[in-house]
Amino acid sequence: MCGIVGYVGKNQAMETLVNSLKKLEYRGYDSAGVSVLNGNITTYKTEGSIDKLSAILPSEMDGKIGIAHTRWATHGAPSTTNAHPHESGDFSVVHNGIIENYLEIREKLEQNGYEFKSETDTEVIVHLINFNYSNNSDSSFYDAVRESLQELEGSYAVAILCKEYPDTLIAARKDSPLVLGLGDSEVFVSSDVTAFLDHTKNVVFVEDGEIVSIDSSGVNYTNFDGQNIQKEITTIDWDVEAAEKAGYEHFMLKEIHEQVSAIQDTFSGKIFELEGKIKLDELNLDPKDITEIERIEIIACGTSWNAGLLAKYLFEKIAGVHTDVSTSSEFRYGDPVMRNDVLTIAITQSGETADTLAAIRSTNQYGCNSIAITNVVGSTITRETENVLYTRAGPEIGVAATKTFTSQLLTLYLLAIYFGRIRYQISAEDSRELLEAIKRLPGQIQKVLEQRNQIKECAVEYSDVADFFFIGRYLNYPIALEGALKLKEISYIHAEGYAAGELKHGPIALLTKDTPVVAIATHGNTYEKILSNIKEVKARSAKVIAVADEDDREIRKYVDTVLKIPKTHELLSPILSAVVLQLLAYYVALERGCAIDKPRNLAKSVTVE
Ligand code: M6R
Repeated sequence: MCGIVGYVGKNQAMETLVNSLKKLEYRGYDSAGVSVLNGNITTYKTEGSIDKLSAILPSEMDGKIGIAHTRWATHGAPSTTNAHPHESGDFSVVHNGIIENYLEIREKLEQNGYEFKSETDTEVIVHLINFNYSNNSDSSFYDAVRESLQELEGSYAVAILCKEYPDTLIAARKDSPLVLGLGDSEVFVSSDVTAFLDHTKNVVFVEDGEIVSIDSSGVNYTNFDGQNIQKEITTIDWDVEAAEKAGYEHFMLKEIHEQVSAIQDTFSGKIFELEGKIKLDELNLDPKDITEIERIEIIACGTSWNAGLLAKYLFEKIAGVHTDVSTSSEFRYGDPVMRNDVLTIAITQSGETADTLAAIRSTNQYGCNSIAITNVVGSTITRETENVLYTRAGPEIGVAATKTFTSQLLTLYLLAIYFGRIRYQISAEDSRELLEAIKRLPGQIQKVLEQRNQIKECAVEYSDVADFFFIGRYLNYPIALEGALKLKEISYIHAEGYAAGELKHGPIALLTKDTPVVAIATHGNTYEKILSNIKEVKARSAKVIAVADEDDREIRKYVDTVLKIPKTHELLSPILSAVVLQLLAYYVALERGCAIDKPRNLAKSVTVE
């Protein structure tokens, strides 16, 4: 997730763009840049924050049209070279999204003499436009953009300048947000309305497959086929803070909703479901390394550790590799038995957790292969491991991990299937079935989100209890732990997650009519067993809230409330159940008036031991 802004108007573009960009900093903050068109295109960019960009800009720069970008790296580390805008010939481009077929296009352009400076997927866009423009003398700026967009696969919101068109800015959108602000003799283009709310509240939402051409005579809208279209102007009444949260009351709620696109972005370009294949180009492990893995050691903390616990089941079932999971703080002071045929996997959304960094460093002496799974490009963990798999959840501002958790889970599913295919532990047929189901997840998460009112009702009913239990078996056990962690960290209610079969070995003594139990009871090989556990709980008069498949009629007989998830492959239901439990925790905390995005005593990155 990055932020883009464009400006055409009566004021000096540089100053206007930088002010707008600051409002988008929550979308990414690892590098920033600006291009202003005034006869020539002048570009400044730098690694680091927008303040750092401001520090290198001249005090004045004449020019009333320009584009700017704040980056949250996906392809290529945060650096000045990888920062946007990217340029080619007379063109300059800013981009938010992921170009899936960039390697293919890059190869074609390199064969045609184009030289790439950055490691980004974005640079192909600007060279491609230049290529299409230069190769056809009849081609206008608009034609070259339109032709180029037809070749791009993936997601993008782009804003483009061309030196030969001194008063024109072109923008387009596919699967990434783009909105216009229509002010008094000025037009803004942006990833969201926050960027220009102090100038205008009149907006036009650009839809997928639309191109916008802005010049001194006005704004022209077309579709990708070049046909003119009419757009409606909407007047919005948000203030700047509400706009940053896209109208959501909290970042956490926004980020829960962003899971639809975070999951899509995380698998995009990696899944080839027809062949039952996964491509993980980032991994530098050859098939021999993968076949020879004797054991996997997963190291992580908190929510990332819960993701690791689920991954243990996946690696053992799908890839046939024995897997251990350690909390980083225990691992680093223990005496692990390690050899060079152990693969270590560090899971950390921030990439900066001190215990995880120390634990992974302590494994260097054994000569093991290592993989980091992180959400932050260029974070410290990426320099501590040989291989990095990025989740593509976008920046997470709320302290409680939500979209980064489900993106970690998905990455671990992909890795397990990838290993499973190479180790001949999963057939192409079974893999295809799983991958097809993964592709349906974004739509199914959307369906879970649509049930938020029912989840809210349930949350309100139980919001004043003192203790909560969460139980699950097998793949649902780590989700029970995560549900309990989410609830305790944001609502301050005491909550325990248990493997359902363990209840009778002690904790059941605590159950009374005042200790609600959330049972994750989706279909699978332990379904009958968890039904028995639910009956044990009910016999102690505790209320039961079940998370169950939408077609499960049986469960209603035994529980007080059912929160449903859409039917999916039985291995994948934990991802959907996790979303239900995030919403449950969120609404309980909301009802209790808690500081949801910044819970007491917690920090987003725990960079101390
Ligand atoms: O950045 P990391 O994934 O390494 O962070 C680990 C934990 O600190 C983190 O998951 C924490 O438990 C979350 N706040 C939970 O919501």
